[in-house]
Amino acid sequence: MRRFLVLHGPNLGALGLREPEIYGRRTLNEIDEDLRAWARDHGCHVDSFQSNWEGALIDRIHQARDQYDGIVINPGALTHYSIALRDALAAVPIPAVEVHLSNVHARESFRRRSVISPVVKGVIAGLGAVGYRLALEALLDGCEGGREGA
Ligand code: DQA
Repeated sequence: MRRFLVLHGPNLGALGLREPEIYGRRTLNEIDEDLRAWARDHGCHVDSFQSNWEGALIDRIHQARDQYDGIVINPGALTHYSIALRDALAAVPIPAVEVHLSNVHARESFRRRSVISPVVKGVIAGLGAVGYRLALEALLDGCEGGREGA
């Protein structure tokens, strides 16, 4: 059975309460539960993990080696500056997809830059929680058409 790891970065534990006009009203638990149900329906397995701590996310990425077939990651604000998180994703040979609930390109200019995007297969932004499911679907499908070698 294929196994996928969904990682949520800083402040995403507050979904539902946090700026709902930008991030929606669904809580992280609701989103994760939907992903688990989707995974069951598709004969695969999903584990989710949220942390406000960069190092905890990096540890989970290293522990994922040989354990998972793909990673879906919403790095939150770490997207825009965490070279350490980028290096962790580059260090493990697991295809990853970057997800953002909001359309980061339609917001403040500092959100347009992602230091994560160059080391992932693809990026989904602006589609709300459905973006996580689409990312899982792409990973399940083998990420055809993704960047060579990523
Ligand atoms: C986010 C976008 C980031 O810029 C922001 O810092 C977040 C959430 C999103 O899902 O839209 O925390 O990754």
